[in-house]
Amino acid sequence: MNLEHLKKLLTTFGPSGREEKIRNTIIELIKDHVDGYKVDKVGNLIAWKEGKGENKKRILLDAHMDQIGFVVTHVDKNGFLRVEPVGGILPQVIYGSRLNFDGITGIVGIEKESRESFEKNLKEMSFDNLYVDVMGQASKVPVGTFGIYDSHPVFENNLVASLALDDRVGCEILVECLISDERPYNDLYTLFAVQEEHSLLGAAVGGFEVDPDLAIAVDVTDSADVPKANKRVSMIIGKGPTIKVKDSMSVSNPKVVDFLKKVAEKHDIEYQLEVLPFGGTDAYSLERVKNGIPTAAISIPTRYIHTPSEVCSLNDVEKAITLVRAVVNEEVVL
Ligand code: CO
Ligand code: ZN
Repeated sequence: MNLEHLKKLLTTFGPSGREEKIRNTIIELIKDHVDGYKVDKVGNLIAWKEGKGENKKRILLDAHMDQIGFVVTHVDKNGFLRVEPVGGILPQVIYGSRLNFDGITGIVGIEKESRESFEKNLKEMSFDNLYVDVMGQASKVPVGTFGIYDSHPVFENNLVASLALDDRVGCEILVECLISDERPYNDLYTLFAVQEEHSLLGAAVGGFEVDPDLAIAVDVTDSADVPKANKRVSMIIGKGPTIKVKDSMSVSNPKVVDFLKKVAEKHDIEYQLEVLPFGGTDAYSLERVKNGIPTAAISIPTRYIHTPSEVCSLNDVEKAITLVRAVVNEEVVL
């Protein structure tokens, strides 16, 4: 892993539908190390490296480059904004905090006309009773302007707390796999997908375009190592990346799951099996385009997903890089 790369990926602006800056950041990191890359009509970045293997297959690694965010829906006559989430954001995680409209700072306040309504609004917090104060800069953030959390990465004890670990850790894993000097055994295609958080659009379009023999979505998943975590979840941070068996939107192809387990065991890479009782990833889109791409997912266990400070283990990211590198160098038998 490269910490400078990770920091750059975590701090570049790119909510769903506005991925231009993060796409350019990724292009800068990879462009001298790949056989080719292109940006498709929806804004996906697809980069590839030809394999040297005699029985090579085409492997697609996917990570979404978009992050959750906000869009301005209304500006009142005093310059206060109303916003709508882009992707899954609870209003409770932003009250009293800062938003970043690509350089313009906003502070989230709550309506409190009377003591009664203040208490009611705190209890029933919603995007209807929250507003955003941009300190007199309303003319720079008209309706339709996109924003993200105002947060920054903190590194401690081999853990990182940051906005956008979902899914910039996935992007970092793909970047490090691509820029490795060795020529892969299989043909390696990487899809840095747009709009996962909004509609899973990018993976559907990119998966159709690449039409690989198998696909792996690399993303984050829940972690159950905190007080009163979901008791039906087994994944914990620091015990290696997870191989997804199922989430609420897709069942991983069992042959791809077995292949991933086999590669991890052969190379002595610590991993966990993942069943997530909620959520979904780009795998949902990948498995239903063309004639059904055999798809699974590799995830990084993460605390506080979709909040301004998601937390994961750098060791798990490192092991995921080792795992995907081993996968692209292994003869695929499904
Ligand atoms: Co997400
Ligand atoms: Zn994600």
